[in-house]
Amino acid sequence: MANNLLKGKKGLIFGALDENSIAWKVAEKAKQEGADFVLSNAPIALRKGDIFKLAEKTGSEVIPADITQIDELEMLFQETMNLMKGGLDFILHSVGMSPNVRKGYPYMELDYNGLSKTLDVSAISLHKVLQTAYKMDAINEWGSVVALSYIAAQRTFSSYGDMAEAKAMLESIARSFGYHYGRKRRVRINTVSQSPTLTKAGTGVKGFDSFFSFANCMSPLGNASAAHCADYCISLFSDYTRMVTMQNLYHDGGYASMGISDHLIQNCFTCQGDCFEKL
Ligand SMILES: NC(=O)c1ccc[n+]([C@@H]2O[C@H](COP(=O)([O-])OP(=O)(O)OC[C@H]3O[C@@H](n4cnc5c(N)ncnc54)[C@H](O)[C@@H]3O)[C@@H](O)[C@H]2O)c1
Repeated sequence: MANNLLKGKKGLIFGALDENSIAWKVAEKAKQEGADFVLSNAPIALRKGDIFKLAEKTGSEVIPADITQIDELEMLFQETMNLMKGGLDFILHSVGMSPNVRKGYPYMELDYNGLSKTLDVSAISLHKVLQTAYKMDAINEWGSVVALSYIAAQRTFSSYGDMAEAKAMLESIARSFGYHYGRKRRVRINTVSQSPTLTKAGTGVKGFDSFFSFANCMSPLGNASAAHCADYCISLFSDYTRMVTMQNLYHDGGYASMGISDHLIQNCFTCQGDCFEKL
């Protein structure tokens, strides 16, 4: 289904860890659509080695950078611009990590050093990427930046922990920086709020199977896969969405607009309210 939507465009893709990663699918589609790009991930993630297979497949270079470290980001942007012989047209921020979620700490027992790390890696890193790019004038006019979010920014998902705070902040940074970068270079910045997806980060959340099944039953179109998400990101990098900025865009098969669905009532809830007797 390739349409050369990104022909001649240059990009930087953060967060491809393995073939399930959303960023992996975006990289594959971006290549099919004619883009050239650099892949980046934390040095520790490169040890797994899968990213080099993606690099080979897409004819890309891999440049390691911890997305929370400004000096590493500056080097990454400089090297990427050297390789691309100029500025960038798109950036994908597909990065998230919570030490509290990883360790299974309940929300009422957060470790605050862990919370700082969660916010730094999963949200403030978007600001760091944008601020570095802004100072270095690394994004071309009408460029597009997309970061991945989740609906726990708006609603409570009890086991999503401090990642909910990170996603709320991430979406806010996209709006706030969207104004300034829009004014400076007509760069657009959006977040895509994606369905539960079977990836390393996704399945690390306690009760992920239930998140996934519930959302799938609730959404009229079912859950959006990583491949669907990649298609949507490509459209946001393309020239067809030039006037879309500072938005949180739901990409979830309709989930965000639902209250309850016939499908759930018929297939999942057999209780007639009698469980209240037992409370
Ligand atoms: N999987 C889901 O259910 C789901 C749903 C909605 C949104 N998202 C979001 O999508 C994005 C991508 O996650 P994914 O599901 O593809 O999982 P993933 O585990 O494949 O990707 C997360 C990436 O973050 C990278 N990362 C972590 N710390 C880093 C650091 N310090 N510097 C640089 N990179 C770092 C990891 O190496 C990894 O590549 C995340 O923001 C996630 O919150 C995921």
